[in-house]
Amino acid sequence: MDDLHSLPEDFVFGTATSAYQIEGAVAEDGRAPSIWDTFAHTPGTVDGGDHGDTACDHYHRWREDIALMRTLGTDAYRFSVAWPRVLPEGTGPVNAKGLAFYDRLVDALLEAGVTPHLTLYHWDLPQVLQDRGGWTERATAEHFAQYAAVVADALGDRVKDWCTLNEPLCSAWIGHLEGRMAPGLTDLTAAVRASYHLHLGHGLAVGTIREAAPGARIGIVNNLSPCEPASQRPEDLAAARRADGHTNRWWLDPVLGRGYPQDMRELYARNGAELPEQEGDLALIAAPLDWLGLNYYFRQIVTDDPTGPPPHARQVQVPGARTTHMGWEVHAAGLEELLLRLTEEYGARRLYVTENGSAYPDTVGPDGQIHDPERTRYLEEHLSACARAARRGAPLAGYFAWSLLDNFEWAYGYAKRFGLVHVDYASQRRTVKSSGRRYAEIARAHRQRARRAA
Ligand code: FCB
Repeated sequence: MDDLHSLPEDFVFGTATSAYQIEGAVAEDGRAPSIWDTFAHTPGTVDGGDHGDTACDHYHRWREDIALMRTLGTDAYRFSVAWPRVLPEGTGPVNAKGLAFYDRLVDALLEAGVTPHLTLYHWDLPQVLQDRGGWTERATAEHFAQYAAVVADALGDRVKDWCTLNEPLCSAWIGHLEGRMAPGLTDLTAAVRASYHLHLGHGLAVGTIREAAPGARIGIVNNLSPCEPASQRPEDLAAARRADGHTNRWWLDPVLGRGYPQDMRELYARNGAELPEQEGDLALIAAPLDWLGLNYYFRQIVTDDPTGPPPHARQVQVPGARTTHMGWEVHAAGLEELLLRLTEEYGARRLYVTENGSAYPDTVGPDGQIHDPERTRYLEEHLSACARAARRGAPLAGYFAWSLLDNFEWAYGYAKRFGLVHVDYASQRRTVKSSGRRYAEIARAHRQRARRAA
């Protein structure tokens, strides 16, 4: 692997998870259902009929999981707070027991020398708010900002790194247009409204977090993909531009003060979907941020698809490509490209790779160990891409491996394993995979080098 010299000395090596994917305990201590409880319990939505009722039982095993972070030698842990644990009614009365779980978690992380990076929304909207229209309604953005204030008030004395939303693209486009995630709608008008209210909620929450937790470092996490044309035909070139608008520019431009991209506004409007804009909103949406998070998994090679749903661009497979168990092409150069684009085109001043990782169908060997050379190679290639981007000027401050644990992979259920740590779901036994040991070694070597240089 390329050496990691170009990464800053204080580069953060972390792991990431999200609440619904690991916690379980869905009906404990006053937690109310989220849209993911509802979706996962709707027949036919999740492979194998899986759901997050127990997941990795992290709600009870968090001490053990923090010990694993230490074994991996990680400096930081990115996790999300479940809104319906803290505010079971979505808004209004705080559930002290739900909040206390995160309070204990944060204290224990700090005690273990692991910096908490807290995400407020990783897709688990309280179902009661969905019943009132969810993200298609402006009120949800306001409720989100209140929820952010409650959490920042409780934890802002100890948590410094705050993320408002994880991958709003998935909430809006996959949840409201493609229907493959909660709440499972297939309606462009709902999707465009949801995207707007997610952004508004983000902007309002930046304000309430800053007020409750002065000194907080606040960012947003987007999943982005380089979008390339399948051929040089003008139709495919135009399709790649639209895919870029739908996947990247729609999510970056408004948050970074450029407003919504005009070409995409027009395309959605031609399909009957308009933004529910009110005066002053764009300034709120563009609230200044301290960092940007990039979740990177794959690039998109697209061809024109005039009869398909917006953006009328269909992804094609790359012949002969190496793919993961998700069917996603392994293409580390795309990570470097996106980090540089965020730096050069969007002027980012602090970046994190907030997620990156790979699913493979791991098996436990006769020695009881999980040997996962493909995941190790994936990890090394993507860390090298980070180092190359840093060498070329990207202000990259850290990398969070997805994921600490095998967990509930949304519509794919438990069959897709992304962990650096294997979970045997029947016994809840955790075993560090070879890739996890390699990650620990890489982090240790980087720290030693940094100490020597200091
Ligand atoms: C991202 C999600 C994360 C996980 C990975 C594989 O889109 O943020 O929860 O499912 O994909």
